[in-house]
Amino acid sequence: MDCLKIGNDTVIYQGEALSVLHSLPTASVDAVITDPPYSTGGMTLASKQQDPCKKYQNSGTRKAYPAMLGDTRDQRSYAFWATWWLSECWRIARDGSPLLVFTDWRQLPSVTDAIQAAGWLWRGVVVWQKPSARPAIGEFRRETEFVIYGSKGKPNLHSRRCFPGVFKYPVNASTKVHIAGKPLELLKELMGVVVEGGTVLDPFLGGGTTAHAAQLTGRKCIGVELSPEYAKLSAERLQKIA
Ligand SMILES: C[S@@+](CC[C@H](N)C(=O)[O-])C[C@H]1O[C@@H](n2cnc3c(N)ncnc32)[C@H](O)[C@@H]1O
Repeated sequence: MDCLKIGNDTVIYQGEALSVLHSLPTASVDAVITDPPYSTGGMTLASKQQDPCKKYQNSGTRKAYPAMLGDTRDQRSYAFWATWWLSECWRIARDGSPLLVFTDWRQLPSVTDAIQAAGWLWRGVVVWQKPSARPAIGEFRRETEFVIYGSKGKPNLHSRRCFPGVFKYPVNASTKVHIAGKPLELLKELMGVVVEGGTVLDPFLGGGTTAHAAQLTGRKCIGVELSPEYAKLSAERLQKIA
């Protein structure tokens, strides 16, 4: 595993999440905010194995991105796998730490089961509304993704602010560096539940949005990314603002 330090506040490990998590000390971070591969594109085993650039983009709007890894599990194995890494995150988090995990409608039941199986206290579901979602003829537009919210035991509350339960931010295809990149402004909002100056762990860093938002809001970040290309893109992105 390669480890890159960026300024004083960001560390990126290029490696496999579970093996990196095993190496991190117990009770050493203040929050876990992460966006794992959803493994939801494709209804059949064969279509699930496709490159995520094909599964998740319309043929007319396809932009080239490095491959997103680990996006091929079926729902059952996804729930087992999520329980493993969420258990390790639970060990690494301090008591009272918040947990925020992105997912979509298909994996919602697996993720809410897995966070509880891993020991986290499930506290709610935050909605991310994406006005840019494509319409579904004769059906309801699938224009929401979800951020499952939990805590390690009784939550540490660091703010008197009441945060909304729904956030509306478009995906900005022209600025995103990752096929599944999340809006920076959304991640900045989510940082509100993390103690200022605290450390956020993201075991699936992708293009580095969590670390970028942490840096802009005065938090530290430890990120893990399996893909060497995305680890490099994240490091370059963060070096620009360090
Ligand atoms: C949905 S993306 C994260 C996108 C990120 N939130 C952003 O805004 O750029 C999930 C990332 O997890 C990485 N990944 C998949 N399996 C992994 C594993 N076992 N260990 C570490 N990273 C992994 C993928 O390569 C992908 O970049």
